[in-house]
Amino acid sequence: MKSQGPGDTSWEVSAKSYGALVGQKGSYYHQAVIFPNLLQLMAVKPSDTVLELGCGQGVLSRLLPPQTTYFGLDASETLIKEAQKRKGKHHAYFKFQDVTRPFKLTKSNFKHVVIILALQNMRDLEAVIANAKTHLHPKGKLWIVLNHPAFRIPKNSEWVTEEKRQSRLVHAYMSPQKIPIDMNPGAKTQKKTTWSFHRPLSGYMAALKAHKLAVVDLQEWVSDKESEGKNAARENKARDEIPMFMLLVAMIH
Ligand SMILES: C[S@@+](CC[C@H](N)C(=O)[O-])C[C@H]1O[C@@H](n2cnc3c(N)ncnc32)[C@H](O)[C@@H]1O
Repeated sequence: MKSQGPGDTSWEVSAKSYGALVGQKGSYYHQAVIFPNLLQLMAVKPSDTVLELGCGQGVLSRLLPPQTTYFGLDASETLIKEAQKRKGKHHAYFKFQDVTRPFKLTKSNFKHVVIILALQNMRDLEAVIANAKTHLHPKGKLWIVLNHPAFRIPKNSEWVTEEKRQSRLVHAYMSPQKIPIDMNPGAKTQKKTTWSFHRPLSGYMAALKAHKLAVVDLQEWVSDKESEGKNAARENKARDEIPMFMLLVAMIH
């Protein structure tokens, strides 16, 4: 899957730059917001098994106890190769796989199935949730980290700055949307496009419910950045009020 054909939502086109941005320990928001919150809640033990769908270059695997059995799947061949190179001594296994299609693994009944900032890049939500459930232990947890679907809708949400306050304006929310993301905005010729699929929160709930998964936790995480200068007060207030990320945790019922 080197080039993007019809139906390909992988980040192969941006694999080199995305892999470098994430690096060994994660991008800024991975390190400052997502992993501190997620890893504390997951409390992964060395004896646990973890399956990650849309694992990119495998950054999560490197933050788990080295003895934990981890499987990471992604539709970008280059990112999977990078994950293999970066894995070190961890018990991590990576597979080039479109996770909207059924797949087989040498392990089953994972205690944790994780999808970090990837479900919104996948076309068929129901298929991914069905696959997540197939590989989940009956008492395991499905962890889904999203760009907050109510406030971060590419091309349909933006900051509005008034004299004393900064607000988030949302133009469209209820309708599912397929939004092209230009990963190389400066370039005139070498366009690199990935896809973002917006669904309202009720869309996620419906997909989980259809597969008998119940939401057992929902968290909203704000950015930890601090502004300086004359607009600092209103920008910091807006950052504390408008969450960037959402975590959904679901279990089979
Ligand atoms: C924003 S990246 C996140 C990667 C990783 N979870 C992280 O946090 O660094 C989204 C990932 O989803 C993957 N992806 C998109 N569609 C996919 C599919 N159908 N099957 C597997 N992976 C897919 C992309 O290749 C990309 O690596």
